[in-house]
Amino acid sequence: MTNPMATAPAQPVYDVDKIRADFPILSRQVNGKPLVYLDSAASAQKPNQVIEALVAAYQDTYSNVHRGLHFLSEASTDAYEAVRGKVADFIGAASGDEIVLTAGATMSLNLIAHSWALPRLQAGDEILLSIAEHHANIVPWQMVAEKTGAVVRAFPMETDGSFRMSAMTDMISAKTRIISIPHVSNVLGTVFPVAEIARHARAVGALLVVDGCQGVVHMPVDVQALGADFYVFSAHKLYGPNGVGVLWGRADILAEMPPFLGGGDMIDRVTIERSTYAEPPQRFEAGTPAIAETIALGAAIDYVSQIGMAQIRAHEQDILSYAHQRLSAVEGLRLIGTAAGKSGVVSFTMDSAHPHDISTIIDNDGVAIRAGHHCAQPLMDFLGLPSTARASVGVYSTKQEFDVLATALEKVNRIFG
Ligand code: ALA
Repeated sequence: MTNPMATAPAQPVYDVDKIRADFPILSRQVNGKPLVYLDSAASAQKPNQVIEALVAAYQDTYSNVHRGLHFLSEASTDAYEAVRGKVADFIGAASGDEIVLTAGATMSLNLIAHSWALPRLQAGDEILLSIAEHHANIVPWQMVAEKTGAVVRAFPMETDGSFRMSAMTDMISAKTRIISIPHVSNVLGTVFPVAEIARHARAVGALLVVDGCQGVVHMPVDVQALGADFYVFSAHKLYGPNGVGVLWGRADILAEMPPFLGGGDMIDRVTIERSTYAEPPQRFEAGTPAIAETIALGAAIDYVSQIGMAQIRAHEQDILSYAHQRLSAVEGLRLIGTAAGKSGVVSFTMDSAHPHDISTIIDNDGVAIRAGHHCAQPLMDFLGLPSTARASVGVYSTKQEFDVLATALEKVNRIFG
């Protein structure tokens, strides 16, 4: 088995024990064993810095935003609005006005589908996805296609999980209006060459949407350098709170989009007969937002920025390299997704046991992984698998955790073998 992370560093990139001390949950026991948390791709754990920011936002400055003229409302509004600029800096957006704060990546993708695509697409137009999409990057497009007569198509991946440009370009034509892809596959770990894909999208006048959920958490992101039109992600996978996410869109595109949801805070003027709307990003933020959670997203961005996304990438690649090596030695284990430069996740199957049984058995040893279709049923069908087991890495992952996982998997072999 070739090692897809051949460039992993020889020396530790940072003191991982110091990082782990920031995450209170990592010191708890599960089933009488130290927790080995290898499910950060589903949702990452939260450092004290984020938990404290969340508590402080409720305890010290909480009030509704954009509405009051009193001290607390102004303090809340300032803290909430500051996060927009912080997100913009973090992902290289031109300005905070391009940052729409949403309920999560799923909401962001639905917003793009319903606000940009629904009014524009016509029968015969094509929406091009990869076969490796998360359901959140499939179902909203199908909803739009049903209403407009547009067609959703998907290009295949290589069987080792690699992306092949010609597989995509073979399916691009003048009919392609949207290309929507993951930055990083949540099952295969494949890193998509977004900048190159953007050039192909531009050549046919298609819009490029990037599901960045598994990308922005593992590597530095510069949306302008990537050349995409939209980039979305969720806070909870970036060590931030649940219920908050980001939609970055190019200012000229956002300006042409109608609102998705109507309500307070997104209007300019309302009469009983009609309403006019605020400029972006407020136009897309109807109702009271997740105020404290958004402020805590700012703390999560501060946290990872202080470590450095390049350092996080180097650390995680080192761990992933070790994980591949360690798990490959387990009898009957097959790695699913070994593309060069892959990131974040190690999916696998075992001859001896179903992924659900694997996950249940190793939970007895305190090891948390995800098992199932990973919200990517078309990819499972393509691979001819009902499901996989998946271990995923984060800023706090260690090689020792993969030793524990490997030992637990050998126990699975003994039980079922
Ligand atoms: N999208 C998340 C995952 O891949 C939930 O597990």
